[in-house]
Amino acid sequence: MKDHKSILAVLIIFLAAGPGRGAGLPLYKDPKAAPAARAADLLGRMTVEEKFGQLQQLDGLWEGNYREEHLKLAREGKLGSTLNVRTAPFANKLQKEAVEGSRLGIPVLFAFDVIHGYRTIFPVPLGESAQWDPALAEQAASVAAEEAYSVGLKWTFAPMVDIARDPRWGRIVEGSGEDPYLGSKLAAARVRGFQGADFGAPGKVLACAKHWAGYGAAEAGRDYNNTDISESSLRNIYFPPFKAAADAGAATFMTAFNDLNGLPSTANKRNLAGVLRGEWGFKGFVVSDYTSVKELIAHGLAADDGDAAVKALSAGVDMEMVSALYRETGPAALAAGRLSAADLDASVLRVLEAKFRAGIFEHPYIDPALEAATLKTPEKLRLALAAALKSLVLLKNENALLPLDPKIGKVAVIGALADSRADMLGSWSADGKPADAVTLLEGVKASVSPATEVVFSSGAFAGAADEDLAKAVAAAAGADVIIAAVGETFDMSGEAASRVSLSLPGRQLELLERLKKTGHPVAAVVFNGRPLELGWLQENLPAVLEAWQPGLQGGLAVAQTLFGKANPGGKLPVTFPRSVGQVPIYYAHRNTGRPPNPKEKYSSKYIDSSFEPLYPFGYGLSYSSFAYSGLEVSPPAIKPGGKVRVSFEVKNVSRRAGDEVAQVYIKDEAGSETRPVRELKGFQRLALAPGESRRLTFELGPEELGWHYTGGFAVEPGGFKVYAGSSSVGGLEASFKVEP
Ligand code: BGC
Repeated sequence: MKDHKSILAVLIIFLAAGPGRGAGLPLYKDPKAAPAARAADLLGRMTVEEKFGQLQQLDGLWEGNYREEHLKLAREGKLGSTLNVRTAPFANKLQKEAVEGSRLGIPVLFAFDVIHGYRTIFPVPLGESAQWDPALAEQAASVAAEEAYSVGLKWTFAPMVDIARDPRWGRIVEGSGEDPYLGSKLAAARVRGFQGADFGAPGKVLACAKHWAGYGAAEAGRDYNNTDISESSLRNIYFPPFKAAADAGAATFMTAFNDLNGLPSTANKRNLAGVLRGEWGFKGFVVSDYTSVKELIAHGLAADDGDAAVKALSAGVDMEMVSALYRETGPAALAAGRLSAADLDASVLRVLEAKFRAGIFEHPYIDPALEAATLKTPEKLRLALAAALKSLVLLKNENALLPLDPKIGKVAVIGALADSRADMLGSWSADGKPADAVTLLEGVKASVSPATEVVFSSGAFAGAADEDLAKAVAAAAGADVIIAAVGETFDMSGEAASRVSLSLPGRQLELLERLKKTGHPVAAVVFNGRPLELGWLQENLPAVLEAWQPGLQGGLAVAQTLFGKANPGGKLPVTFPRSVGQVPIYYAHRNTGRPPNPKEKYSSKYIDSSFEPLYPFGYGLSYSSFAYSGLEVSPPAIKPGGKVRVSFEVKNVSRRAGDEVAQVYIKDEAGSETRPVRELKGFQRLALAPGESRRLTFELGPEELGWHYTGGFAVEPGGFKVYAGSSSVGGLEASFKVEP
């Protein structure tokens, strides 16, 4: 009897192991078994210490090396992941300790902030959003993934999908701006680009939607500051890009640093278990932000290290970045019953399953030869140039000063930013090398005729002396045009780079004033990672081109645009205020009972400034002109589950080929709660030849017309307005009804 039982048991194990697996090979080592089954099998073999070890992510050195401590932890099976460790020599050495040196051989998952390129650097994300071209953003993310993979990485901390409506916040540069609709399209595109159809494939990496949630609403625009966001704003504004990322299959999420309505994001069970996993069915794993588990103590949520670990882990934060409280205090909390074994196991399973899906059990090492064949190839640089060209936004062009004639006699290129490689790259430029960047000065020299004289002077930035200003003015003498590069250095935006002022730093405005006085026409090129106060430029200079931090090929892209080889067609993904005092200012605001009216004292406005922005969301000019006509909305009435078709014609009415971004907005006129004066619900960037026209059609259904009110999501019966045009202001107008 006994014998029969044991034979049966062996048989069952053998059958469970499936065909093709040699006797004795554990299930988790079978590449043909399902990732969830492999994870469950592996979990069953792990000690408590090994389990906590898999939830640990530690940082390596910035240049890519690991730290001594990592080798030992990897051998002990206590290093789940690293950030910054990369390139074959470092990654493979550390991986060998984990895979060949540890008891169970669980590989390390290598992560890095690959935000807008790894070596081939594309425009900063805010600039990329100004392209209004999700397919292009997807291509850029795909190139970034390929490069990252070639140096041993398998996970990027991107896309950053935080909606940001306060340009004082330096991290506005990392996201797609102020709008949830545009932000959602880009979030999904970037996830698809990084991960492809299968993030386990070579050349693909796991994406990470961050920072969950509400981080972009930091009070006073001060980084890491608290947030107080209504349920309506969370649901309708801040959550949608995260939902889009989750729906696109983002493998991971990162929690944010902020306290949200009294509960820090890194211990926010409501958002993690409730919304993300509960409502949205997210199956991936969640990593904390850098030491944000430990920071629960400073927030005043956790009493000590042990409490912080318990609160974060039980809320559903699976992996701890940099601080080591899970690993250090977790086993005791588990033994004391403060942490449930089920919570621990659930987190470990999620991490293991992602690792199986990532394919790193089968392919833990990176081929050292891959990097040279992959990084910064000519084809990738061409894409970086195309991306930079499409990100440029023409803000002003009086009397068609631009494009300039390449045969022009003398060009004065003025401003330190015109000759600064590092500043073309922008914040979070991964392994981008300033030496690889083309400056504006180089771009201008490459774009003008051999006979054209090009002079340069750096002029005034922070700390510039009177003589620097004088030199710049002298250099500009006799110029047919002055190209003035102004804005911010790359480190003035990004993390921990909030500002109270949005003015041009240093003496740059003074420089522009002096240049204007020369009487030569001045075209300003603005390099920046946030909206700046450009009112003086708008009022006093004939041409202003917004260039963001445009990446490796940025200087060339700007010059090709200034000299007419390319035609700008980008649009602002964020409102530019007149002054910092108007902040927060965004197009999709709710109306007041007393809408701004210059003639009415008791209306919602300022006594010392216009209430209107300097440049509205969606705004951008071109060397071409476009006309909109024939807006049709049909049928005139639908049921809440129905769809309307919005169609109109866009025509290039100029003699130059160019791109236009056609935009569709709605206004839900009245309902159980108030809705914004306008909401973007469709857009398309299209290239039109001179005289060419195209009829565009958009379908608006429940996804576009519905919104989250207290108690649910609905399309409410009532009137809707539709606007079609080239920005969030003006445009053609029509209406339709939703009938009960
Ligand atoms: C940032 C994250 C980033 C992480 C790792 C943190 O300071 O907030 O966005 O992914 O560092 O570098």
